[in-house]
Amino acid sequence: MSASDLTVEGLGAGAARALWQGSGEPSADGVRRRPARVTALANQKGGVGKTTTAINLGAALAEAGERILLVDMDPQGSLGVGLGYEPHALDATIYNLLLQDHASFDDVVLDTDVTNLQLLPANIDLAAAELLLVQEVAREHALQRIVDRVSYRYDRILIDCPPSLGLLTVNGLTAADGVIVPLECEYFALRGMSLLLKTIERVRDRLNPRLVLEGIVATMFDPRTLHVREVFERVQEAFGEAVYATTINKTIRFAEAPVAGESILTYAPGSRGADAYRAFAAEVSAREPSSPRAS
Ligand SMILES: Nc1ncnc2c1ncn2[C@@H]1O[C@H](COP(=O)(O)OP(=O)(O)OP(=O)(O)O)[C@@H](O)[C@H]1O
Ligand SMILES: [Mg+2]
Repeated sequence: MSASDLTVEGLGAGAARALWQGSGEPSADGVRRRPARVTALANQKGGVGKTTTAINLGAALAEAGERILLVDMDPQGSLGVGLGYEPHALDATIYNLLLQDHASFDDVVLDTDVTNLQLLPANIDLAAAELLLVQEVAREHALQRIVDRVSYRYDRILIDCPPSLGLLTVNGLTAADGVIVPLECEYFALRGMSLLLKTIERVRDRLNPRLVLEGIVATMFDPRTLHVREVFERVQEAFGEAVYATTINKTIRFAEAPVAGESILTYAPGSRGADAYRAFAAEVSAREPSSPRAS
């Protein structure tokens, strides 16, 4: 089997057309008078670059002057690890905010080494939260309630979803204005796209009418490999303009930076990887519609 066995419609091209936000127009004067744009990074496939993209897109947008909040919705807690924290050592995490009415955002939010980049961390407790939330009223809206309370403090909030389509990801999608899908260009990754797009569609129809597909970004991209190039062409054919022009190429620097507890923008500021995320951040900003909350 090869990537060409998958038809464009089979990949979910129709769903993507219906969900895509369009290329957007910048606001006339660039001044923000509205709540943060909330973007979920989602893909149920594991290890495709969701967390790496959350950290480095966040760092690149912060470098460009935006106030950014990163939200970890993954019990693995990798977002905090990648920014130098030990999740198991944290007293308060997003678990407390999701399940305890008296918990305070300011007691949980953490600063990072990057100016204007803050973090709402998670750890393994979040796995228990998923089970406890099931019994709550409006369980899909728990994260949205947290995000709405602080959205005027930030320009953009990025939610790192876990590799599943369960309640934590649904909470991420319900709290978001848009979804960015990090996609590794290989055959099996492609096969999950239509299920992911169906889930986004379902959340939009039932829980969050303002949800759009912001775009699809190719990660761990190796342009020297024929298979990768073929899959990328198929992705462009299926999803058209929803695919970002910037690709995030494969480089070992991305594995090294989180070990140092840093974004690639501070760990290797002059590297191609850092530049790729700067270019991606510029593209993400340029696509932002002028009135994201209008629905
Ligand atoms: N562009 C890249 N080049 C090389 N390695 C990368 C790249 N992006 C991410 N990685 C590495 O691949 C691994 C998986 O990345 P990451 O944790 O961001 O994926 P994820 O989708 O968040 O995974 P999970 O589904 O487990 O949450 C990590 O070790 C990361 O350092
Ligand atoms: Mg992750």
